[in-house]
This record gives sequence, C-alpha cells and structure tokens, in this order.
Amino acid sequence: MSGGTGSPLDGVLRRLGGRLAFGGDYNPEQWDEAVWKEDDLLMRWAHVNLATVGVFSWALIEPEEGRYDFGRLDAHLDRLHAGGVSVDLATPTASPPPWFTLAHPDAMPVTAEGVRLTHGSRDTYCLAAPAYRQACVRIATALAERYGDHPAVAMWHVHNEYATVCHCDHAAAAFRVWLRARHGTLDAVNDAWGTAFWSQRYGSWEQILPPRATQWHRNPGLALDYRRFWSDLALDAYREQRDAIRAHTTPDRPVTTNLMLPGYQVLDLWAFGREVDVVGIDHYPAAPGIDAAADTAFGADRARSFGGGKPWLLIEQGANTVYTADRTLPKEPGDLLRLTLAHIARGSEGALFFQWRQSRAGAEIWHSAMVPHAGPDSRVFREVTDAGAVVARLGELTGSVVRPRAAVLHDADCWWALDGQGLPSASLDYHRELRRAHRALWDSGITADFAHPADPDLGRYELLVAPALFLLSDADAERLRAYVHGGGTLLVQHFTGVVDERHHARIGGYPAEPLRVALGVRVEEYRPLPAESTVSLSDGSQATEWSELLRLTDPADAVASYTEGALAGEPALTRHAYGSGTAWYASTRLDDPSYAALVTRLLTESGVRPETAVPPGVEAVRRHAPSDDRSWLFLINHTQAPVTVPTAGHDLLTTRTIPPAGLTLPPGGAAILRQDPPPS
Ligand code: GAL
Repeated sequence: MSGGTGSPLDGVLRRLGGRLAFGGDYNPEQWDEAVWKEDDLLMRWAHVNLATVGVFSWALIEPEEGRYDFGRLDAHLDRLHAGGVSVDLATPTASPPPWFTLAHPDAMPVTAEGVRLTHGSRDTYCLAAPAYRQACVRIATALAERYGDHPAVAMWHVHNEYATVCHCDHAAAAFRVWLRARHGTLDAVNDAWGTAFWSQRYGSWEQILPPRATQWHRNPGLALDYRRFWSDLALDAYREQRDAIRAHTTPDRPVTTNLMLPGYQVLDLWAFGREVDVVGIDHYPAAPGIDAAADTAFGADRARSFGGGKPWLLIEQGANTVYTADRTLPKEPGDLLRLTLAHIARGSEGALFFQWRQSRAGAEIWHSAMVPHAGPDSRVFREVTDAGAVVARLGELTGSVVRPRAAVLHDADCWWALDGQGLPSASLDYHRELRRAHRALWDSGITADFAHPADPDLGRYELLVAPALFLLSDADAERLRAYVHGGGTLLVQHFTGVVDERHHARIGGYPAEPLRVALGVRVEEYRPLPAESTVSLSDGSQATEWSELLRLTDPADAVASYTEGALAGEPALTRHAYGSGTAWYASTRLDDPSYAALVTRLLTESGVRPETAVPPGVEAVRRHAPSDDRSWLFLINHTQAPVTVPTAGHDLLTTRTIPPAGLTLPPGGAAILRQDPPPS
C-alpha cells in the first residue's frame, strides 16, 4: 500500500476519493428492486461511500453444496459501484445454511453441558470441525476468485464476530494437538495443570477433554489453556480465509474481521490485532449518556491499541436502539454524531453502522438501522445524513494517529484466568477493573492506550496502570520492574502477579519477584472482605472487597494504612521510589472517588496532562499527522451544559477560524480544530 499516509486503510480511502468511510452493513437480499432503487438515492443523500455486503448471505450464494449463484451479488456490486459506493465484501461463514447442518451434523457446536445445537439462528458452527473449515475456505476462495479485482471491492471482511466456543470431539482432538505443541509432553501438561491434586493425572492424551460440565470446580490450568487454544483456533480459521482471499485480490484491499468490543473476550485481541490488515470493531455501548461516551472511548482505545496505534475502523455501531444484556437501549438525539466523532477522534478512519435498512422480518427486526422502519422522513435518518455530511468533510484526517502518554496494562490471559472458578473472592472481575482504570483516566481528560505487559517499548508511556494483572510471567514482571527503574510511574493494584503463566501460585510472597523489588512490598496474606463491607484507610479513602497484609521491604512509604479490622495499622497503599521512577501499590479495592483521587495524584506526579483543560464529560483528544506538522484537536461535549475551551484553530465542522480566546461548545456540541503547527 504505497504512496499513502501510512494508514492500513490507504487503499480503501483512495477508492473513497480520500474521504473517511461512512456507511454500514447492506443486506439487499431482504428487499426488492424498488427498495434497491431507493437505497441508491438515499445512500447518495446520506454520503454513504462504503457498504459491508454479504455477511449473512451464504444460503443465497451457495444454495446447495458446491453450487454457487453469484447473479444477485454481481448485480448489487455493480449497482453500488455505479452509485459511487465501495464495498467491504464479507465471507458469509458466521451463518452456515441449513443444508450444511444436515450434511455435516458433526460440525454443529456442542455446549459444555453436551447439547448439540442446530441451525435456525446464526453463529452455529464448530471451528474445529474439518467440514466447516473446508466449507469456509471454499466459499472464501470462490468469492475472492470472482470479486478479487472487482472495482467495487475496497476491502474484505472475514466472517462476523468470531465468538462460538464448542466442546465436541473435534474440539477435543484439536485441543490435544494444541497441548502437544504448547507443552511437549503429557508429563508437562500434568505438571502445568497440577493434576496431582484431586486425582486428575492424565495417563494418555485421549483422556484429556474440553472443559465440559463437571461436578465441582474445573481445573483452572485446563480451563485457561482451553481458552488460549480456542483463541488460537479462531485465529487459524481467520488466517485460512484471509490467505485464501489474499491469493486472489490485490494488496491494497485489506482483509480484516469485525471484533466485538468492548466486553467480548473469547479471543486474544492482541493476537488478532497482529494478523488483521486493519483492526475493525463493532461497538454498542451498554449504558446511556456519559457512560456511553466513556464506553465508546474504552472500545476505541482498545481497538487502536490492538492495532499497534495505527488507524483502525469502526465497522458497526447502532443508529438508534441496540439490545444490551438486559434491555433495549435507545440513542438520544445527537448521540449518533457525537459517538461517531468520538470513534474518529480515537483513530477510526470512518464510521459504519449495523445496518443500512431496518429489517422488516427476521431475528433483528427491532434493532435500529440507518433507514428505520419509518423510512427516510425520520429523526434517525436525518441524523444519519447530517453525520454523513460531517464525516465527508474529514478526509484530511486520514492516516493521523493518537499518541497517548498513559496506558492501562491489559492481557487476555488475566481476563480468562480471573473468569475462572475457585478464586478467593466472587467479586474479582477483570473487565470491571480494566474499565474502571480507563474510566478514571477518561474522567481526568486523559486519552489512554492499552498496553500488553510483554510490549518491549513500555518506556514510551510516562504512566502505566495495572488494574488486575493476576497472571504475570517472570519476563513480564521483569519488564515492569525495568520500566519503573527507567523512570516510569506504575500503579499496581491488588491481586496482581500472584500466579505465573501456568496458573501456579507465586511462592514466598506475592507478587512475582521483580515486581516486589520495584514496589518495595511483599504481600504476605490476602484477606477478602465480606460482601457489602467497607474499610477505611488513614488518608480518608474508603475501600471494599479486598485487603492484604503487606510487608514493606526496601523502604516504601505507607501512603495510607488500614484503620480498622484485622489489618488495622498495616500499610494499605504504598509508594516506592525505585531507580528513576516510582511504583505504587494499592492492596485493597478503593471506592470510586478514592480511586479517582489516587489516579489524579499519579497524573500529577508523572506529568501526564490532558490535551487541554476540560470539565468531566467533555473529551479533548488529539490526532497527529504522521509528518507531525499538523494536529487536530477533537472537542466533544457530552454534557448538558455549554463549555468554553480556550483554544485556537480552524474548526473543520463549522469551517470557522477560532481565535485564541477559544470557543464555546453548546450542550452536546463538538469541534475539530486543525492546529498548525501543533502546540508544544
Ligand atoms: C453485531 C452483529 C450484527 C448485529 C448487531 C446487532 O454484534 O455483528 O450482525 O447482530 O450486533 O446489535
């Protein structure tokens, strides 16, 4: 992809005439010709330039095994191309057709309880089943052979949200192969899983099973390895399709898959980030208002980080109502543009939606779309066209990047391990801690990256927060020690570094030794607190859920101690000057205000400052031109009050020049200030 801005989407953006992407999933198979004609008009009206096509069209493209019918897809791609809309062409493998199930019942997934699922929904397949994998490669190849050079096709979209986990015999066989590769011998597996306990020793590979329903706690080593295995398997399945497509398309057409963020953790998203040409995510906030904005930042910052800081793409968001775990959540007027800009601010090269036209039948008829049931004469479609017009003006942002100076450490292994059974507290929740660390930084106006503890270049950050690195290898603990020694500021939170990568407890005190050195602290005992109880610290902080008995080794300062309970008088929060840096340890779960106060203190100490001073609920995020001679400051007011920001620049949204006195953003308002050259 030469001659561009360095964005992994250069080839796509060139096809879009240098504009950022705007559009969504387009499922014309649900409609007839009259509607397609209207779609052509409305897409132009809404400034749509990229449509994701074919995600769920397997049954139409391959109505019987091995017989392809591309007629309709040909016509849709030609029509879209004629209308100036490029295509993100999907392989339809997330929903095998009914004929596939009947021909290959062994390729249907089996739950942990032993129930084999069948067709009638979607995502019903086993990634370990040879028949499914072969069928996927066949249809990906057929599509790529036919459309690899089609002028409408700008990028490729493999599958949809890899998520299904299976426990069948194919999965068991593949798991054993994976275990051999990881551990080498059966003895090593027995050792890693600690099978001496509870008489679990395996005498042959065939005795090893997926984590199916068991009477009591599962072996945590097995459970963790299965999650690692499944993520690797999904990545293999992705790579197989990606490579089949690459063999028939051009290198300027990137291949990716849509990762589901922010809460989805079946995959090691760092590993996927390394294998996709561009990170693509789907994002549906699970809460309204300011929380939706914070959630958007959480998903977007993770997307950017998984792609190594490069620009990425929002592949799906909702135009209005979305289903959350327990309710249907509407978007308020104005949210659509604000959240679109919030994604772009954090590095997305555009914004796509699920889906273009709201279905009139099928499983998701109540899920919103760019064209709602009410049709184009509707608030939602008006907001869509307004957002499309705005995004159409943002082409100059292409390839620009966000450069955070703070990061939250994040590792899929920790998430998986803390998702296990038999832990010392039911309230240990990796995802909640990860979000809270990010939210505290977001509330302080700081744009944060996520970083993996194995990142060889952690020194680019002035501040690192480790909210729940439960599992930590010696090498990663050493990297964190060296980070502090080299001048970084590190906050380590309770129950971190307590097991190694095999899920074996650290002996001789927690956390892993190099971290103990950096922190000047040795954790001698963990003492979970009863549910609903709180404990006060000497600095006035309140804490819940957890406490630990600490010993200060190399003199660390006890910044706060426990004032009550069994640990009264013992250190709770410590600070240790080590080498040229500082390492903090929080041995208990501070309540939100106390945690926010601690993060503020760390920001001050590490010198990490917001882009410009803004009140909570207002985002100030900067994208930098790769050449560094220009930057764009996004200001997004998610609050109900006007906000004055004393910053000059040229506003891309109003095309006005903003004087040094700055501008006032109305409630819900936004600005994107081109600042040239960037302020130092
Ligand atoms: C996404 C999925 C879409 C659609 C959407 C509705 O996760 O990829 O196909 O189901 O959710 O929220």
